[in-house]
Amino acid sequence: MNMSKPAVLPQHIAIIMDGNGRWARRRLLPRYAGHRAGLSAARATIESCVRHGVPVLTLFAFSSENWQRPQTEVGSLMELFLGALETEVQNLNANHIRIRFIGALDGFAAALQEGMRRAQQLTRENTRLTLNIAVGYGGRWDMLQAVRRLAADVAAGRISTPDIDEVHFSNALALAPVPDPDLFIRTGGERRISNFLLWNLAYTELYFTDTLWPDFADQELDAAIRWFAGRQRRFGLTPEQRGGTHV
Ligand code: FPP
Repeated sequence: MNMSKPAVLPQHIAIIMDGNGRWARRRLLPRYAGHRAGLSAARATIESCVRHGVPVLTLFAFSSENWQRPQTEVGSLMELFLGALETEVQNLNANHIRIRFIGALDGFAAALQEGMRRAQQLTRENTRLTLNIAVGYGGRWDMLQAVRRLAADVAAGRISTPDIDEVHFSNALALAPVPDPDLFIRTGGERRISNFLLWNLAYTELYFTDTLWPDFADQELDAAIRWFAGRQRRFGLTPEQRGGTHV
């Protein structure tokens, strides 16, 4: 693989892994075969991020809306998650990867919740890569749970309403304390955020590719990282104020 480093490396990549179903259909396979292939692509992408030295990766594995898919598909996804928790976590831990789950975890079966809790506990001291897996996650859910948390803080007298600022709000969101994503990638051809990290993507560079998630490979991640290195991020200021690209 090409290890030449781009000038600027994203410090946090967030990915919507879309296209598993279509990948399976094109092969006349059931949808769960697409999700299984998607898990392999996720594994390869985690390894690529480690090789590149990207410190934070967030994967959208299951949205709050995905609960409405046919029961058989939800069931096969849950089985895949449970299997992955049993088989992948030791390997991730051995590679010094910290795992965090973000989302409404209380909607999951007790065995899955327990597996997620154990994976987080086991890997919490790891520092090579922080892997956030969004499950039962929705950007609107996240903002609402942050508002509820801040309202409880106000009611308890821990903070006063006028003191609530962007930092407080960010810190109440599920991703905290990791920084917002620099690079967002969506595979599968749609150009939408689909209720992913609505607050956190405010200044993120958005990269879309038609490649279906199971086909997303090393070279594609390299291409996205190179594309990112060429972007000029201004955060609402003029180019002169920002002093060129990526400051
Ligand atoms: C979207 O494709 C994908 C999902 C809803 C599930 C994603 C799950 C994985 C990639 C496997 C698990 C990964 C981890 C990290 C535990 P789709 O079904 O919407 O595809 P389609 O748009 O072609 O129908």
